[in-house]
Amino acid sequence: MTDVTVQEIADSLYLLKVADHSTKYFEAMWSIPEGITYNAYLLKTPAGAVLFDGWKHLFVEEFVETLSSLVSLEDIKHIVVQHMEPDHSGSLPEILALTRNQAQVVGHPFSERLIKGLYGLAPSFRPVKNGDTLTIGGRTLTFVQTPWLHWPETMITYLPAEGIIITGDIFGGFSIPSGTFDDEIKVDNYLPFARKYTTTVIGHYKEKIAQNVAKLQKLGVDPKMILPAHGLLWRQAPERIIQAYLDWGKGTPQPGKVTIVYSSMYRFVERSVNVAADELKKLGYTPVMHRIVDDHHASLADILSDIADSEAIVMGTETYESDVFPYMEFILSEMCKKVEYEKPFVLITVFGWAAAAGKKLKEQLEKSKFNLVETVACKGMLTPESEVKIRESIAHLNEQLR
Ligand code: FEO
Repeated sequence: MTDVTVQEIADSLYLLKVADHSTKYFEAMWSIPEGITYNAYLLKTPAGAVLFDGWKHLFVEEFVETLSSLVSLEDIKHIVVQHMEPDHSGSLPEILALTRNQAQVVGHPFSERLIKGLYGLAPSFRPVKNGDTLTIGGRTLTFVQTPWLHWPETMITYLPAEGIIITGDIFGGFSIPSGTFDDEIKVDNYLPFARKYTTTVIGHYKEKIAQNVAKLQKLGVDPKMILPAHGLLWRQAPERIIQAYLDWGKGTPQPGKVTIVYSSMYRFVERSVNVAADELKKLGYTPVMHRIVDDHHASLADILSDIADSEAIVMGTETYESDVFPYMEFILSEMCKKVEYEKPFVLITVFGWAAAAGKKLKEQLEKSKFNLVETVACKGMLTPESEVKIRESIAHLNEQLR
């Protein structure tokens, strides 16, 4: 049975939420055993209704049914498309058809092209720019463009009289929270899922978080309620999710946290990396280990998420076919796209007959924003000499941090 929530969350403003327990890899990339929700919103007014976003096409029948339980679809006057990624716009074609194409779509000018490109549709469309307003049935909506959070056409809607912002991806998170609002669950347990969402989905554009938050502040938006398109809604402490997003965007570390990520075909790398972990613990750090080994593959999403609030990174890997171990090459390329911060980095590599991985990764890391403190290349087994070098590299890492 589909897990749907319908709730009036403010005067005549309704949440329509579906919990997606079946998607294993969001965007076909990010492992989400915790699930995800798609949150749409409906504002009912005496002059007609306004729909904000929708659900992934997988749930289109349920969306039509849920929406129809609140409003006659022909009474929907406007569909505000805040973001065109199909996890929100996938249900748009069916909804438009059921409004007999009478509903006016409201969105960023670029969305009109995306609606044509993704769905072959050309509905009645009202392009809006920053600060444009729409008044209907005594309710006023103000639109604010928030480009690259998460696509170029993304925007949010501000209801100034109510102090509410409907935000699309921004301020959202993975998982299926057991409550609707932040005062109904343990927020500390939810925030890691929001961090994982931010780093994986929005991470490539992380600099845009601070820019867009500053823009909202400049426009005088001081929300009492934040309604994102994924996960938890915020009314008790909306400033908490804003600050969390700012911190993840900047990579603000939790004191003592160090992410260790390594691949190890035959546990040679693992033995070397364990020395690094041991030295970190002796120095008072908390290493968080992610392993790519023969009985376990760490989730890339979890690796990226942990880097966002780590003080430093340790990577271990080996040479494979005179090159970098392929999984690690992919992981590092995603790290450089999504969570590239100016954080200290130690690289430990192991080789049999050619130290190719270390050389190539060193070149790559020196071009990145990461601060490559030291590289240690170990020939095969962990020797007392390489153990000393690894411990020294961690001591140098510590000097950078303390
Ligand atoms: Fe939730 Fe960028 O879509």
